[in-house]
Amino acid sequence: MLAEVIDLLRCPHCGGELELGDGAARCAEGHSFDVARQGYLNLLPGDARTGSADTATMVRARAEFLAAGHYAPIAAAVADAAVSAAPAGETAEGPVIDLGAGTGYYLAAVLERLPKVQGLALDVSKHALRVAARAHPRIGAVGCDAWAGLPVRDAAAAVVINIFAPRDPAELARVLAPGSALVVVTPNRAHLAELVSAVGMLTVQERKRERLEGRLGTLFEPAGETAVERELVLSHTDLAALVAMGPSARHLDERQVAERVAALPDPLPVTLSVTVASYRRTPA
Ligand SMILES: C[S@@+](CC[C@H](N)C(=O)[O-])C[C@H]1O[C@@H](n2cnc3c(N)ncnc32)[C@H](O)[C@@H]1O
Ligand SMILES: [Zn+2]
Repeated sequence: MLAEVIDLLRCPHCGGELELGDGAARCAEGHSFDVARQGYLNLLPGDARTGSADTATMVRARAEFLAAGHYAPIAAAVADAAVSAAPAGETAEGPVIDLGAGTGYYLAAVLERLPKVQGLALDVSKHALRVAARAHPRIGAVGCDAWAGLPVRDAAAAVVINIFAPRDPAELARVLAPGSALVVVTPNRAHLAELVSAVGMLTVQERKRERLEGRLGTLFEPAGETAVERELVLSHTDLAALVAMGPSARHLDERQVAERVAALPDPLPVTLSVTVASYRRTPA
């Protein structure tokens, strides 16, 4: 619900408080932002660059793939990490922000474990926001650009989750109160490796996590990590959705993907290998 998260937000132009009323949120300076019919609030400035936003096709594919449950072990590990990271654990009341929330799948899993907590789903894709706004009754979905300064008040969040999505460490540090936590999911080298040559999926950047820790620098300190490793057994339908929901979809057309998937065994064993890492915001 947007009404429950409006107090966490700030005007992207002047930084002022926002108030919600008849189909829009407004600040005292008169900046106004529409609430979309589908229930999300768009705080993106009119000239925002949204080239990295997931398309309607990508979001549909992601919703389909996640609904099949293949990434449920990741969601469970993220929820575990969020519960242990939240000040006061399962009785926590502070909000959880999901940056680059996509369909809201992981945020919904976290909220199921934290019954008093509101969730704020941030994404630049209006297609993702439409789905995220309905993913859980305690989610408010808001459009913004992770690289342009988050429209979120200082120290507003108890936990931020960030899953296969962009992050600006300085902004994450700003919106997290000292002592609160960031939970990040990054793919390991083996993740979906079978599909790299078979369907031309993009490769995982080497040493992604080491680089992440370098960038989190002095703002955060490591607070534990869990490897989630499984063999997924994926049908051709699953494989097509998996390719279509990811960044490779921008480089391959539908026909190319269909041809390459058709040439694979059905079902195909594929490695899931990600790290769920927690970081604590260091005192300022
Ligand atoms: C790979 S998807 C991951 C989505 C979700 N976390 C999940 O794992 O299902 C990356 C998400 O980041 C969003 N995104 C890309 N660039 C962004 C930006 N600059 N600011 C905010 N969100 C962005 C995309 O629209 C997409 O929903
Ligand atoms: Zn304003």
